[in-house]
Amino acid sequence: MASASLLKSSPVLDKSEWVKGQSLRQPSVSYVRCHPTSPSALNVRASSYADELVKTAKSIASPGRGILAMDESNATCGKRLASIGLENTEANRQAYRTLLVSAPGLGQYISGAILFEETLYQSTVDGKKIVDVLVGQNIIPGIKVDKGLVPLAGSNDESWCQGLDGLASRSAAYYQQGARFAKWRTVVSIPNGPSALAVKEAAWGLARYAAISQDNGLVPIVEPEILLDGDHGIERTFEVAQKVWAEVFFYLAENNVFFEGILLKPSMVTPGAECKDRATPAQVADYTLKLLHRRIPPAVPGIMFLSGGQSEVEATLNLNAMNQGPNPWHVSFSYARALQNTCLKKWGGRPENVKEAQEALLLRAKNNSLAQLGKYTGDGESEEAKKELFVKGYVY
Ligand code: 13P
Repeated sequence: MASASLLKSSPVLDKSEWVKGQSLRQPSVSYVRCHPTSPSALNVRASSYADELVKTAKSIASPGRGILAMDESNATCGKRLASIGLENTEANRQAYRTLLVSAPGLGQYISGAILFEETLYQSTVDGKKIVDVLVGQNIIPGIKVDKGLVPLAGSNDESWCQGLDGLASRSAAYYQQGARFAKWRTVVSIPNGPSALAVKEAAWGLARYAAISQDNGLVPIVEPEILLDGDHGIERTFEVAQKVWAEVFFYLAENNVFFEGILLKPSMVTPGAECKDRATPAQVADYTLKLLHRRIPPAVPGIMFLSGGQSEVEATLNLNAMNQGPNPWHVSFSYARALQNTCLKKWGGRPENVKEAQEALLLRAKNNSLAQLGKYTGDGESEEAKKELFVKGYVY
């Protein structure tokens, strides 16, 4: 597979080079962007990692592949483990993450894995570095860099996302440890407004994070999640999403973020979780693609959707519907719940179930790979995979 060989042979992603890290930096002089009318104000030096960012983003956005989001904070991972009766210990988190990253052949469908900081520095139960296992599977390691949501003073009970302080030095250390992309998830709540203040804060935070990530060799995944919470219809989600993405791209441009070296992680445009009128995959695809066409420049290499509480099957069907015709960007997945749910249930914390659990993960990864190519049929799915995974006020 072309993408797999790129990962193996590219000097950018050669593991022996990763440890040296900074030796991969390239001279920045060739990336000076000028504006003909007012050169002094608008001369901007792009990231010295520009070529590498493009290569990383393109490898992640390669045909038939998407991202496995396994970056649950320890608290959220604890909730997942509690759902199968396990304690939230480091050993249990390690056992679960070992199961995920070592599923045989996962790299055929998965191009990148987002890790929580603990996992970036963690080993598998048999002592191999998790980062090395991923690279061996042709999967690029990524890292969640935001520090979570806190109340936004002066808003209508909305939140903002922390994590900019010290982000440059943390990002440089994550790069040294083998991460090549980053994720920052902020949220926008429709029932709580969204207020102009909350949207602006979300967009500005994402843009600052994206600029800092690129400066340190990490491809930023830009994720303003528009929460499913609420009883609003699909039109209202569409209206809010247009506003949010307009603002996000305004600030990305203002912060001189290099669009060829980013990935986006939007919510699909759907009705609120409590809305009586449900939308078909064709309707979700129509609204979501209309939003993307209006707001996202074709320079952006990949759109990697979050699942946001949809069932595993619903998230796959909706992705498949969006890939029924050509798109200017790679339209794919970066799911957590919609890849992991059945796998976690099958495992149940029992070593004898590891193989069956890995098969469940591989089945979801394969079906989403087919959906990325527009070839998923929906046949043979289990009842578990059809269960809605929405949780009110979900935190990550
Ligand atoms: P879900 O696919 O569970 O919504 O996860 C979103 C996310 O941000 C994970 O990185």
